[in-house]
Amino acid sequence: MTDLQTTYLGLKLKNPLIAGSCGLTNSVQSIKEIADKGVGAIVVKSVFEEQINVDTEKVIKNEEGNIKLLTRASDLMLGRRVHDYDEAYSYIYDFARRNALDKYLRFITEAKKTVSVPLIASINCVSNNDWHSFAKKIEETGVDALELNIYILPSDWRRNGADNENIYFDIIREIRNYVNLPISIKIGYYFSALSQSVQKLSQSGVKGIVLFNRPYNTDFDVEKMEVSHGSIYSNDLEYNHTLRWISILSGNVGCDLSAATGIHTWDAFVKQLLAGAATVQVVSALYKEGLGVIPDILNNTALWMQRHGFADVASFRGMLSKSKLDNPAAIERVQFMKLYSGIE
Ligand SMILES: Cc1cc2nc3c(=O)[nH]c(=O)nc-3n(C[C@H](O)[C@H](O)[C@H](O)COP(=O)(O)O)c2cc1C
Repeated sequence: MTDLQTTYLGLKLKNPLIAGSCGLTNSVQSIKEIADKGVGAIVVKSVFEEQINVDTEKVIKNEEGNIKLLTRASDLMLGRRVHDYDEAYSYIYDFARRNALDKYLRFITEAKKTVSVPLIASINCVSNNDWHSFAKKIEETGVDALELNIYILPSDWRRNGADNENIYFDIIREIRNYVNLPISIKIGYYFSALSQSVQKLSQSGVKGIVLFNRPYNTDFDVEKMEVSHGSIYSNDLEYNHTLRWISILSGNVGCDLSAATGIHTWDAFVKQLLAGAATVQVVSALYKEGLGVIPDILNNTALWMQRHGFADVASFRGMLSKSKLDNPAAIERVQFMKLYSGIE
């Protein structure tokens, strides 16, 4: 008998496979279908700060019919007061924002009532914009945890590395002060000193860090000579980057690590656990292969465990983390001379 149970963010999961936040976790019906396939937990579709701001601006435009006011929601978001009538404007802004957030709260309340598998709410934030009161309301719905998706592209010439990194800590501090819900953060890899930053973040009161979010990829259309975008879905070769960093970081951080991006198959799933991940998040595979990929990953992992004589996940988790390797340099190698020199 193999036991796939694990703990993540202090929660007991029946296995380490998590359906990550996406369009498939955006309705109660499809959350139920995913849960029925056997996942250990589900991250609900995020409420997006930027989307709320866009929606709020639309509402403001309708109510006021005044084009001059169109830019004002973003001004208020940034704390800029532009004119004397800001108070009235601020009222409309708050009202519209509250509506968008209430809709999300109703959705996760319903979802939580429908499934027994742990449910993780998600906020996609780009600033420290009064998220604590919303986080408090999320906590009151009874969901099991909250994932904060914070992805800052370091493209602003006026901000140095510390400025950007402080945003992460400010958001976490603000929310941690108001909620007891276990919190995880989902991050990208744009840090000037990734290991140190992840270690510091792991000591900031979060219970888990999801490595990594997958950036929206820029592309160009050469015929139209326009900016376009790369594939929305990952492919099954994209897991290596995450694998390296989970292996480097596991055992050296003060919280759980959850592996994400490019994990489509049972062996990619097992690799992340060998690297030291507490859980593994899957999204693109659900779209590309269908929900059947969930039992496929779990059944094949159990068979692999039987073949290798592992009774439970703890018996092999972290076996290939960098700190346990005889040749840790193999994980850090970034130049290819030895590997490539034999190829002609
Ligand atoms: C259609 C789609 C919608 C997504 N929506 C969200 C979201 O709302 N919040 C979030 O944190 N990540 C979102 N993601 C990112 C995924 O959760 C995941 O981090 C990313 O797709 C990489 O994992 P994968 O390689 O398994 O797809 C979305 C991804 C896709 C493909």
